[in-house]
Amino acid sequence: MNLKEAAITVRENAYVPYSNFKVGAALRTAGGTIHVGCNVENVAYPEGTCAEAGAIAAMVAAGERELAAIYVIADSPTPVSPCGGCRQKLAEFGKGDTRVTMATTAGAEETMTLAELLPGAFNADHMAGR
Ligand code: THU
Repeated sequence: MNLKEAAITVRENAYVPYSNFKVGAALRTAGGTIHVGCNVENVAYPEGTCAEAGAIAAMVAAGERELAAIYVIADSPTPVSPCGGCRQKLAEFGKGDTRVTMATTAGAEETMTLAELLPGAFNADHMAGR
């Protein structure tokens, strides 16, 4: 299964009683493994988690930490854009040139790098010496 197929499939499992907006994410690690995630909402709204966060958690739980690429899909008018918090989460495990493909269920796709999505990211260099 490729990243697109994996993201489409996991999206169906999204738990979205409040937004009714299903998101699926599938990432590939440097080693070639695919991990998936979907958004999981909560009646206490801020406790909901994004699809990207779920995929990252699955990757780390599997013992992997090198994000090579991620595909995110939703039924949105334009390709779904990862939220600011998820951009920071992706930057923790990806590199500046890591490709983030955003897609709609209707077939539109847009690919950007992590550096483009989160310019000037706060990173470990800012904490040098600690
Ligand atoms: N959401 C994601 O899962 N990923 C994104 O990139 C954008 C937003 C979710 C969070 C919430 O469950 C719903 O979409 C509406 O914001």
